Amino acid sequence: MSPDTPQSSGATPPEWVARAAELTAQLNHHSYAYYALDQPSVPDAEYDRLFQQLQALELQHPELITPDSPTQRVGATPLPFFRQVTHAVPMLSLGNGFSDEDVLAFGKRVADALAAAAGANTMDGNVVDTASAPVEYAADLKFDGLAINLRYENGLLVQAATRGDGATGEDVTANIRTVRAIPLRLRGDNIPTLLDVRGEVLMYKADFARLNERQRAAGLKEFANPRNAAAGSLRQLDSRITAHRRLRFFSYGIGLLEGAAMPDSHTGLMDWYRQLGLPVCQERALVQGVAGLLDFYRDIGQRRAELPYEIDGVVYKVNRFDQQQQLGFVARAPRYALAHKFPAEEALTTVLDIEVQVGRTGAITPVARLKPVAVGGVIVTNATLHNEDEVRRKDIRIGDSVIVRRAGDVIPEVVAYVPEARTEQVREFQMPVACPVCGSPIVRLEDETIARCSGGWIKCSAQRKGGLQHFVSRRAMDVDGLGEQLIDQLVDKNLIVTAADLYKLGFVALAELERMADKSAQNVLAALEKSKSTTLARFIYALGIRHVGEATAKELARHFGSLDALVDASELQLLEVADVGPVVAQSMIGFFTDPLNRELLEQLRAAGVHWPEHAAAERTPMPLQGNTFVLTGTLPNLSREAAQARIEAAGGKVAGSVSKKTTYVVAGAEAGSKLAKAEELGITILDEQKLIALLENA
Ligand code: IVH
Repeated sequence: MSPDTPQSSGATPPEWVARAAELTAQLNHHSYAYYALDQPSVPDAEYDRLFQQLQALELQHPELITPDSPTQRVGATPLPFFRQVTHAVPMLSLGNGFSDEDVLAFGKRVADALAAAAGANTMDGNVVDTASAPVEYAADLKFDGLAINLRYENGLLVQAATRGDGATGEDVTANIRTVRAIPLRLRGDNIPTLLDVRGEVLMYKADFARLNERQRAAGLKEFANPRNAAAGSLRQLDSRITAHRRLRFFSYGIGLLEGAAMPDSHTGLMDWYRQLGLPVCQERALVQGVAGLLDFYRDIGQRRAELPYEIDGVVYKVNRFDQQQQLGFVARAPRYALAHKFPAEEALTTVLDIEVQVGRTGAITPVARLKPVAVGGVIVTNATLHNEDEVRRKDIRIGDSVIVRRAGDVIPEVVAYVPEARTEQVREFQMPVACPVCGSPIVRLEDETIARCSGGWIKCSAQRKGGLQHFVSRRAMDVDGLGEQLIDQLVDKNLIVTAADLYKLGFVALAELERMADKSAQNVLAALEKSKSTTLARFIYALGIRHVGEATAKELARHFGSLDALVDASELQLLEVADVGPVVAQSMIGFFTDPLNRELLEQLRAAGVHWPEHAAAERTPMPLQGNTFVLTGTLPNLSREAAQARIEAAGGKVAGSVSKKTTYVVAGAEAGSKLAKAEELGITILDEQKLIALLENA
C-alpha cells in the first residue's frame, strides 16, 4: 500500500483493496494512452463504466480513496479566492521574432555567443572551428493558452500555479486536478523527489465550439476564442465548472528538479516527460541551424489550420542544456530561445458602420465596415456579421471596439465587442426595410434567420451579379478569367442580363471594358467556349436553384440522366431522389415552372451548352446508394478528391460532418474530432483498405 493511502480500519476485504487499485491503474492507463500517447485504448463508454465501478467501490469504502484516484479530480466545495504562489524558479517570457530576418539575427546571436564561450574555454581563443558547426535546435509549437507550473512531490501532483507576473502566480490546483490530460501521479520508476513541470493549458478548437454552443443554448455569454475560454475556465473558484470544460495540457519546460538526473537536452527532457506520463506535443522537430528553423516554421504555417488547437507561432530553443546555460538570459527572457510568431489572426479595431450586402438568392448579410486593420497578414476593412440575429446576439453596435478574426482563407468575421471600450455614442444596427440595391421590400419569413430582398434577379442587379458569379464559378461552369469585377461591369452596363447572354458576348464588347486588354478578352471568350462542354451535374448546380447544392445536383443528374427528364419531373418523382425532401422539391418545381427559367434553359442549349446524357432507365447500378460517408485525416494512397469521386460513383454520398445519419467514417492519419465523434455515436469506421474493399465488392 502506498504511504498516501489512508489506513483502513482493517475491515476492508483485501480483494476490494486490490480491485480499487486495479481500477485506478486501468483508468490512469487509459487517460495516459489517450492524452500522453494520443492513442486511445478504449472507447469513452468503457472508461465511464470502469470509473463508475471505482466510484461505487469508494462510496462503500471511503478508506479506499487515494489522492491520485481518478474519482478525486473534482473538488466538492468552491474556493473563497485563489492563494498566491511564489515560483521556486521564475517563469520567464520569450523574445519575439516576426520575420526571417529576426530569425537570422537570433541564429547569429546564438552562434556568436556559443563561439565566444567556446573561445574563452580554449587557451588560444581560436573560435573558427566551433563556429562552423550549425547549432542544434528544438523547434516546438507556440500554444495559444496559459502557462502553468505543475509541482510533483515524489510523483504526486501537489500544486499547480498560473504564471502570474512570472515571480508569483495563483494557486489553481483544484482546477488543474480536473484536467484529465494531467496525471495526478507520475509513471515509471525514475520519479524525482521534486519536479516543477512547465507547460501550457489550452482548449481544443472542437471543445471550444461545443462549449460556446452550450453557453448559447443556456443564454450565457460566449467566449471570443479558445484562449479566453481556457483562461475563463481556469479562473473558476468552483472546480466543478472547470471539470466540464475539457481543458488540455502540453509540457514544454522545467523549473526546479530534485532527486533525479537532469536530462542533457530539451528533446531529452521531453522524452523523459513522456515516460513520466506527461503529455508532450508530437508536432516538434530537432533541426540544424537557422535553415532548419525556417523550414519548420513554414511547414507548421501551412498546416496550422488543420491542427486541433490554436497556436500563435513556433518556439525555437537551443537543444543542449549546457549551451543554454552558456547563453544565459537578457532581461526576463532567455537568450537561447525565440518565439517566431505567425501574423495574428485576430486584431482589435472599430466598427465605422454596419451596412448590408445582397447575395445571389437575395439574402441580406449585415457587414461591418471597419477601420482598416492588419489581420493574418492582410488589411481587413470589412467583416461579416452573418445575419440580423447574430448582430443582436453578439450585441455589436456601430462605434464599438471589436475583435476581428481571419483564419486561413475564411472570410473575416467580427468575434465580439470589447465591453470596457463601449461609449454612449454607439448606435444599434437597423435592418433596412428596402433593398439598398433595387429598392424592393426586404422580407424575413417567420421561421427563417435570413432576411431577403424580394426583387428577384429580374429587379435586383445584386442578385443578378451573384447568380452570374455562381454560374461561372469553378465548381459550376468553370469559366476561367471572368471575375467579380468583370461581371459587375457587364451587368452595370446592361451588356448581360442572364447567363445565356454571356455566350452572346463578342470580342468588341469585352475588349471595351475597363482594365481589359485584347488578350484577356480573347482568353475570356475561349474560356466561355470551353465551358459549353460540361456535365449535367455541373449545369444543374450552375443554375443556382435554391437548396440545390453540388451534392444534390450530382444526385439529380445521376437519377434523371437528362435535363428534360428533370425539368418534367413531378414532385413525387423528385422526392424519389435520395437527399431531396419537400423543401428542395418545391424549390425545383418553382424554378422549372417559371417561364423565364425555361426560356433561359432553351437559350443556353441554343448557345451550344451541352453534356452527355443517359436515359433514366439505363442508370448504372448504385450499390452504395443511401450510404453517407465522412472522410477524415489523410489516407495513405487515395487523395480526398479521389476517395470522394469513387464513393459517389458507386452512389454513396460524402458529407462534411459526422451525425447520426452517417453510415461510415473513413479515417486516415491524424484523424481528429470527427473520428472521436464517430466512436461516440458507434458509427462504423473504415481505413483506406476497408474502403477499397467495400467499393470493389459493391
Ligand atoms: S518555452 C523561458 N515553449 O509562450 C520561457 N513557451 O512568450 C520558456 N508558450 O509564457 C517558455 N508555447 O505561455 C515555451 N512550446 C512553448 C510554448 C511556450 C507557448 C508560451 C508560454 C510563455 C510564453 C512566452
